[in-house]
Parts: sequence; C-alpha cells; structure tokens
Amino acid sequence: AGRIFHYQKETESTNLEAKKLAAEGVPEGAVIVADTQSAGRGRLGRTWVSPAGKNLYFSLILRPSVASLRIPQITLLVAAAIHQAICDLYPCIEAGVKWPNDILAGGRKLCGVLCEMQSEPGLTHFVVVGIGINVNQDDFPEELQDKATSLKLETGECFSRSRLLATVLNRFEDLYHNWQREDDLGFILPYLERYSLLQGKEVCIDQFSRQITGKVCGIARGGELVVQTEEGVELKISSGEASLRKA
Ligand code: BTN
Repeated sequence: AGRIFHYQKETESTNLEAKKLAAEGVPEGAVIVADTQSAGRGRLGRTWVSPAGKNLYFSLILRPSVASLRIPQITLLVAAAIHQAICDLYPCIEAGVKWPNDILAGGRKLCGVLCEMQSEPGLTHFVVVGIGINVNQDDFPEELQDKATSLKLETGECFSRSRLLATVLNRFEDLYHNWQREDDLGFILPYLERYSLLQGKEVCIDQFSRQITGKVCGIARGGELVVQTEEGVELKISSGEASLRKA
C-alpha cells in the first residue's frame, strides 16, 4: 500500500477524497494524506478535529476480493497494524486496542479508524479506511483532555509522521495479504486478544436502541466481540460502541 500517494495540504476529509478517487477507478493501495482536514469525520457521525502540522490523517483505498460479510474485519486488521507500528517505533508506550477500532494509551485515545464501503450493485465496490493518529499534538481542547492523548504527550518526544505512516502501511500490507488468503481473523486473534483492553472486563454496549451488559470473553474469528451476559448467555456483538462498566 502507499505506492500511489496523494498528498494535500488541506482537504475536507481524506475519506471523502478517497471515496471520490475510488469511484473514479483509482486502484487498490492508493493512499490519500492531508496535513489538515476542514471537516474530518469520526464514527457515529462525530467530527474529528484535525489541526495542521501535528498529526496523521490518511485514507487507504482497498478492493478486497473477499465476501462482503468479511469487510468489517478490516477495521480490526487496521487496528492491529497500527498497534504493531506503534510498538515497533515506540516500545515504551503501552498501547492497547479497544474493540473494534480505537488505539488507547493510559485510558486515552491515540488513534481512531473509520471504515466506509461502497457495495451497491452496479457500482464499483471499494472500501475506504480512514485513519487518524494523534502524533505531535501537545494540547487538546478542554472537553477532550481526559479522553484524548498523543504519542508526544505519552513520551515527551516529537515523532516523524512519515516514518510512522510508512510503518503502519507496511504492517497493514502484510496483515491484509495474509487475511485475504485466510477464511477469517484466526491468524491475528491471539495478538488482538493479548492487547485487547476489553478482555475479561465488564462492559456496556450501546447498540442502536438496546444496551447489552456483560463480561468480555474474547474476540471471535469473524471479528465480533464475544460477551457473556449475566444470565450466562454468550453473545457475539458485531457492531456498537463498548464502554467499561464502573464497579
Ligand atoms: C473515530 O474514532 O471516530 C474514527 C476517526 C477517524 C479519523 C480519520 S482522520 C483521516 C480520515 N478522514 C476522516 O474524515 N476521518 C478519518
């Protein structure tokens, strides 16, 4: 990935840009990077504040040759790749993966992933993976201070964004090729479970109109979060936002 590279000083959102380019036929592996975004987007319709000169904002175009049922697994692959890249470059940071797609350090968010896909019949199919990593940001607006962090805040050092980007892309390329040869996420599950911040924890999951509470027993080969409810029923959760339950 990253052999086709589009860099922009400013764009609305690299995901938006990537979707336009993908619809025009730009091939798999293209990467769209911006120094700042005027309308960066997060999951669940949130905004992703994107100050210039500090962080990484980029999107990858993918055209995976797998059943569409498997597409949501890409989020976990990306989370694993980013986690591996952070551990390669900054082994002193204790980062963890919060299912399905956040990387946290010290309970605060370092990185988020937003996957979007186009799969309507008659249109070309593609997946856009948008990644935002807080690299050298040294302060966050007050309302984010206890929720967000950056590599610089965690280590006191400034980091090369291009080196981190290259490492993430290399790690992802490896995992993505393996994944396409396999039937599921089995090959990366031990890694994901080892660094999963939810493993063994009591959680609460908001799923559209219902709330599920229980204890996390693991991640399934299909990428779902496996939760045991108080009644002892095992549920596989395929989407939603999980939060830790206070004791
Ligand atoms: C989240 O945790 O809510 C996901 C955040 C994803 C942010 C990245 S930054 C690059 C790409 N372009 C966007 O507009 N969003 C993603």
